[in-house]
Formats: sequence, structure tokens, C-alpha cells
Amino acid sequence: MSGAGKGDGEGGHGEFASAGILEAILESASQSILAVEGSGEIVAANARVEEMFGYRPEELVGEQVERLVPDGVRERHSAERQAYFRAPKVRPMGEGLELRARRKDGREFPVEISLSYVEGENGPMAIAFISDITHRKTLEDQLLQSQKLEAVGRLAGGIAHDFNNLLTVIMGYDEMLLGQLSPLSPTRGYAEEILKAAERAAALTRQLLTFGRRQIVRPAVLDVSEALGRTEGMLRRLLGENITLKYCLAPGAGKVLMDQSQLDQVAMNLLINAREAMTGGGSITLETNAVELDETYARTHAGVKPGAYVQISVSDEGTGMDEETQRHIFEPFFSTKGDAGNSGLGLATVYGIVKQNGGDIWLYSQAGVGTTFKVYLPRVDEAADEEAAKKSDMGPMRGAEKVLVVEDEEGVRSLMCDVLRRSGYEVLAATSPQEALEMSRNAGGEIDLLITDVIMPGMNGRELARQMMAKRQGLSVLYVSGYTENMTLRHGVLDADVNFLQKPFPLERLLRRVRETLDNRR
Ligand SMILES: Nc1ncnc2c1ncn2[C@@H]1O[C@H](COP(=O)(O)OP(=O)(O)OP(=O)(O)O)[C@@H](O)[C@H]1O
Ligand SMILES: [Mg+2]
Repeated sequence: MSGAGKGDGEGGHGEFASAGILEAILESASQSILAVEGSGEIVAANARVEEMFGYRPEELVGEQVERLVPDGVRERHSAERQAYFRAPKVRPMGEGLELRARRKDGREFPVEISLSYVEGENGPMAIAFISDITHRKTLEDQLLQSQKLEAVGRLAGGIAHDFNNLLTVIMGYDEMLLGQLSPLSPTRGYAEEILKAAERAAALTRQLLTFGRRQIVRPAVLDVSEALGRTEGMLRRLLGENITLKYCLAPGAGKVLMDQSQLDQVAMNLLINAREAMTGGGSITLETNAVELDETYARTHAGVKPGAYVQISVSDEGTGMDEETQRHIFEPFFSTKGDAGNSGLGLATVYGIVKQNGGDIWLYSQAGVGTTFKVYLPRVDEAADEEAAKKSDMGPMRGAEKVLVVEDEEGVRSLMCDVLRRSGYEVLAATSPQEALEMSRNAGGEIDLLITDVIMPGMNGRELARQMMAKRQGLSVLYVSGYTENMTLRHGVLDADVNFLQKPFPLERLLRRVRETLDNRR
């Protein structure tokens, strides 16, 4: 580079001007360095430009600097350049300009430019230090995305919680109504429609809770390949005939601590999307592998902790996605399938589940070629817990025990009391934990079962249970909630010995859980 003179940033120590030192600096710099005249002409460039822009330095000398920016930015760049030369000053790194740049092959990338200037033969000359900031931008972007999803998740979870209370009441009383209407009653159809709509609303609410990572789960140690193998038949039927579904389940892919129904949900949502992207048929591959994510991987993927993971990947040969679509796919209600009746909750659900389980999800997609989703779940080393898949049997659903129901939502409380009384139980109802403690004192400790909401003003259900159990050893407890806060149940994860009923619930499930809880008493 020629013409190195003095800018206002002078005042260094010793002598840099010797050709040897300058040469060494220019050639070892990780930045592209350009000297540009006021006219926009490049008068010198260091060797790094070749790697960054694809031009050899001598190709650039004599060219307009705007050649290195994309069409859409050219005018702005030229205006800024002229403004800079009217009052040149040093703009160090960190206060530099962020711009899009363009390579010789047309590819664009983000750069940060810091500027200095010197007096050249034809007036001031700008020295531009150009850094490729693709990597930093990607990480910033990833972080921003995950913060946005986090915020939307909190909102969705909160709404879902309130909806659960309302739906519990709507569904419960509607079921009672149906129970009293004769099969021939003309109003029966109305009540059935209400129940159907409420069930749809409950399903949506469940998905929102999952996205908000508030779904209540019973994690067990699962061998991922075995667990996915168990649902293979069901998923094949679901995907239909004109799709080739390849399962490559590595036997040693590893185990994870997770609720099997959540794992199924992840696989199902990804497979359905893959099928929906391949209207003309084709093949989908579901694969499992044991992987180690190292520091290098973690540095390029925001939020990933290095360690051992089970990788589940789902690849299709479908439509693929452009970059704009890829930015939004995990947001709830984002869907490009407008008229097909899709809600846009599929990937939001997957995202919530993966994050709730300490995992990560990434995608690689190219429009017109296909898409691969990669899910990473933290690997655990314990023995697989096959008990978890077993379901409890249905026993008789009635009883005569004394039950205390604590619930601050009036509608839910009266519904539960009504149902329990009809099934033979002796029922006490309290609107708050304080009232419950008083009732339990007055009842002389004769209560068999406490049914309590988890989150209530004043005292949470867990604390209430603890205080009551201190007075009465054999007391059984059934927790009821729409979701759970980590203070009570650790991030929505239930201890194995906790009896729990999620709102909204069909009345039959309430009665069954009550019976189970009472019968499992020691
Ligand atoms: N495998 C894929 N190939 C191409 N596009 C996909 C793929 N998976 C997801 N997408 C895009 O991401 C969007 C969001 O997916 P998501 O599963 O969340 O919603 P949906 O499938 O549209 O609706 P729902 O899952 O609720 O039925 C889709 O509308 C689609 O544009
Ligand atoms: Mg979907």
C-alpha cells in the first residue's frame, strides 16, 4: 500500500514507517485493508481481500470501492463516503460502520468497517479496515431468536393456564349435562357440540403449554432408538402410502431422560411436516445417532452446551424453505399452509419440548431441495426404565372416603365437589390454603385425601400438603394444576411419588386418579 502518511490518530511509539514492518502488518492482518481516495477509487489493497472478496489485490486497484457492496447498498455507501471525505475522522472498531458486502461471485456477507485516514497526493485518503462479521451476526441472530421465543412462550403459557381453568368448568358441566339428558333428547346434540369444541380448545391449549415449557411431564430413562421403534408402525400408517419412510435407528444411540409422549410428539410433528412438504411423494429418513458436541460446535451455535447427546434427525426431499421462512418457523401460529387448516403450532411444540429437556434443535434447508431437522437431547447413562410406558388399570371409580378439595377458582372447585359427591365421597371444600388448614383442624384429622391446586395465593399446594401431612400421617395428596411453576415442581418435572392431575380433565379421569391415589396409600 502506498501513501501512508499521518492521520489524526498518530502518536504511536517508535517507527512503523519502515517498509518491513508495514508490510508484515498488512499481510498478517485478519482484516481486509483498503486505501480509498475521495473519488471512491481504490489505490491499494492488502492480500486478505482475496480470501474475503474473491478479488486479487491488483484487480481492485483502480476500481471504485462501491464494487464491493451489493446493488441495493451502493447509493448509500457512496453518499456516506462523500460525507466522510468532507470531514474525515478516525472511526475505530466498535464504532465502525456495519454494512453488507459483496464477493466477486455475488455472494453477500455482513462486514464491519473501521476507518482511518491519511493525507495522500490527491487530498485525504481513507484507510478502511474491513472485518467479516458473519459469525458474530449469526450468533447475535440466534440469541435474539431464542429470546423472542422465550418471551412469546411465557405469554402463551400464561394464557393457557387461565384457559385451562375455564375449559375444566365448561367440559365438566357439559359432561354432567350429557349424563342427565336422555339419548333421545333433542338438546343432546347441542351439548355434544359444546364438548367437541371444548376438547379442540383443550388440545390447542395443551400445545401452547408445551411451547411455553409448562407441560407437566413424567420423565423416565428412555432408550431413544427403542422408544422410536415402538411407534414406528403407528407413524407409518399416519404418513400414508406414497411416502417411503426410512428408519435408521442406531442401537447405541443412547438414552435420554424424557417423557415418552413428548419424544413421540417431536417425531410425529417433524414427520408430518416432512410429509406435508412432499406433495409429490418421496422419501423421509429418520435417524438416531450418538454424538458429542464439542467446544467448536458450541461456539457456532448459540446456547449449546458441549457434551454427549442423542441426535434425532429427520430429512425430507420436499419443498425446503427460504431464509425468511426459516427465521419464523418455531414461532407459534406461524404457518405457510394457510388454507390447509394447519395451526402453525407443530414446530413451536417441538421447540418447547426440546428446550424443556435441555436439548437443541437446528435445521438445514434449501428451497427446492429439502430439509433436515436435527434434534439434540442430552444423553444419560442410567438403565432404561421400561416401567414408564405401563398404564394403570381402571378400578371401581366410587368411594366413601373423606376428601378435602382446595381450589381458589370457584367454577373448578364446585365442579370437582359435585362430581365427587355423586360418586359417594364425603366432600369438604376450601377456597384457600388457610381455610383448608382450619377445616382440617376441625375435622379432627379424619381427612383421607387432600385434592389441591398447586398455585394459589398465599401458600402453594405443596406447602399446604406438607403442613397437613405433619398432622396426619396417612393423608394422600392429589395435585391439580393447569401448569406448574418451578418453585413447586422443579421446571414442570414431577417427582415419581407425586399424584398429579392436569387441567382440563374429563370427569372420569378425576375419579380414576382419586381412586388410584387412595388405593396406593401405604
Ligand atoms: N420439512 C419441512 N419442509 C418445508 N417447510 C417446512 C417443513 N417443516 C416446517 N416447514 C415450514 O414451517 C412452517 C411451520 O411449521 P409448523 O409445523 O410449526 O406449522 P404447520 O405445519 O404449518 O401447522 P401444524 O403443524 O400446526 O399443523 C410450515 O408452515 C412450513 O412453512
Ligand atoms: Mg406442522
